[in-house]
Amino acid sequence: MLDAGGQYSHLEARKVRDLGVYAEVRASETPAAELRTARGLIISGGPSSVYDAGSPTVDAAIFSGGQAVLGICYGLQLMAHLLGGEVRHGEKGEYGMATLELDESSDPMFAGLGGSQQIWMSHRDLVGRVPDGFAVAGHTATCGVAAIADRTRRLYGVQFHPEVVHTARGREYLDNFVFQVCGCVKDWDPRHRVPLLEQEIRDAVGARKVFFFVSGGVDSSVAFRLTTRALGQDRVRGVYVDTGLMREGETDFVRGIAALEVENAQEQFLGALAGVTEPEQKRHIIGEEFVRVQERVIERERLLDEDWVLGQGTIYPDTIESGGTAKAALIKTHHNRVAGIQKLIASGRIVEPLRSFYKDEVREVGAELGLPAELLERHPFPGPGLAIRCLCSPVDADVQPTAEGYVIPVRSVGVQGDSRSYAPVLAIDALDTGRATELTNRLSSVNRVIAPVEMRAAWKEMRVRACSITAQRLARLRSADAAVRRLAHESGYERKVWQFPVILIPLGTAEAPDSVVLRPVDSVDGMTAQSVPMDQELLRTMCAAILQTEGVAGVFYDLTHKPPGTIEWE
Ligand code: XMP
Repeated sequence: MLDAGGQYSHLEARKVRDLGVYAEVRASETPAAELRTARGLIISGGPSSVYDAGSPTVDAAIFSGGQAVLGICYGLQLMAHLLGGEVRHGEKGEYGMATLELDESSDPMFAGLGGSQQIWMSHRDLVGRVPDGFAVAGHTATCGVAAIADRTRRLYGVQFHPEVVHTARGREYLDNFVFQVCGCVKDWDPRHRVPLLEQEIRDAVGARKVFFFVSGGVDSSVAFRLTTRALGQDRVRGVYVDTGLMREGETDFVRGIAALEVENAQEQFLGALAGVTEPEQKRHIIGEEFVRVQERVIERERLLDEDWVLGQGTIYPDTIESGGTAKAALIKTHHNRVAGIQKLIASGRIVEPLRSFYKDEVREVGAELGLPAELLERHPFPGPGLAIRCLCSPVDADVQPTAEGYVIPVRSVGVQGDSRSYAPVLAIDALDTGRATELTNRLSSVNRVIAPVEMRAAWKEMRVRACSITAQRLARLRSADAAVRRLAHESGYERKVWQFPVILIPLGTAEAPDSVVLRPVDSVDGMTAQSVPMDQELLRTMCAAILQTEGVAGVFYDLTHKPPGTIEWE
């Protein structure tokens, strides 16, 4: 998978792996000579236009080496552009569902797929003229060139995204490419990798011992268990850092999974975050404090000598999303890539046994290792913990009434195009996801829309207050989050959602200065997500339980899909 900078390249690679064929993401410019061992290449989508200065490109030699190539979206346009076709700016964009008319064809790439079908599009540029040797294989009402083929050279392109669920027959396109065009064999199964992974760990660690900082999440727990199995318990130590930014009951839960040592650093983290309101600065501080704790533990436990290696539960998307490769957009910033950790990597004192796996593959490995479903099926929880769900404000600020609703002057992150941006939040009066989508499409100043479930005060009494993270606000958030988790678990709602962040925003009255936002989302891998509705009765019960918490003025519901609103609020 040649990554042209899109947020979809991982999804595309993962879909190929789901078919039982190993796929890797590489920078789009990787020289053709380094790609020769691949049976086939896919050029991903991406946010650029082929005419933008510095836009991603590929080594054109990949088109003449006899290798099969499939271009997706931008990948199709790039292929057409480099091979002498013409790409032009579309009069209007084509975003979302569309109907593809695919010609009946005996070409292995499109065999059995002819006819009218639902696809998912996300583009403005389009191919105006195909290069010599290519034939147009399909079109939509807006896009004359939606699928192209050069059967002789085994070069193909589709303007739509076969990797997303909204493309009804998407899997069949990838299946045709991988098996019929590339001639791959189905031989990739993460569960079968366990003995190999253990051997890799033994080879990397040699006679040394491994030290883990376990977070209680799926990744670090699986990596820890795997390493323990590979090296034996007496050569692996696990420390859980209690940052004070964890949810209620978390430390006990983590202790129950494995024999861990708990390092109490609550005061250290709270102290470092006092007075800080800038979201990315909060993340940075947390990353730095983590390194400090790690360094302190390492020193105290005399782990600085060459006997020890740091183990980490880094998974494949982490290595690329955090800017590990040149083109990846900064979708999320990870704390496990800060300077201190980089030093350990540079000196080779790190082992990351899951670094080539996707999340669902990590779960399969975990199940193979006998870890309980309760752990493996856990909703994801971000490394920086409740800190990124506890919004802060540098100033007091008024809510602005507008024609569309109330603009709340907090800074919440969204992902429009491929980059993160902070913007205020719009509150509308009804739990209407359709309207929320229409508004975020129309108003470029807003990337998130919420609606009140219940407010204890009128809008004119509500305002945003200057605040940072305090023990009191964290306790408030922890209590609301615990109530939500308990009710989501008891009602079975937690199984209907992929993740359910609960966020505290500094919106309220003098007596009750904060409000709580519910953010239940459905997703496949966190890259895109949908706001999920909840039945009224459960919502009422949840709301009543949250309002028991001291200092909470209102409960809101986040109606925003991702894009444009990220799952987390910071
Ligand atoms: P966003 O907010 O970008 O989140 O839509 C996508 C997924 O990533 C998780 N997330 C993080 N996980 N460290 C983590 O370990 C982080 O800094 C971080 N930020 C977001 C988020 O919870 C969601 O599952």
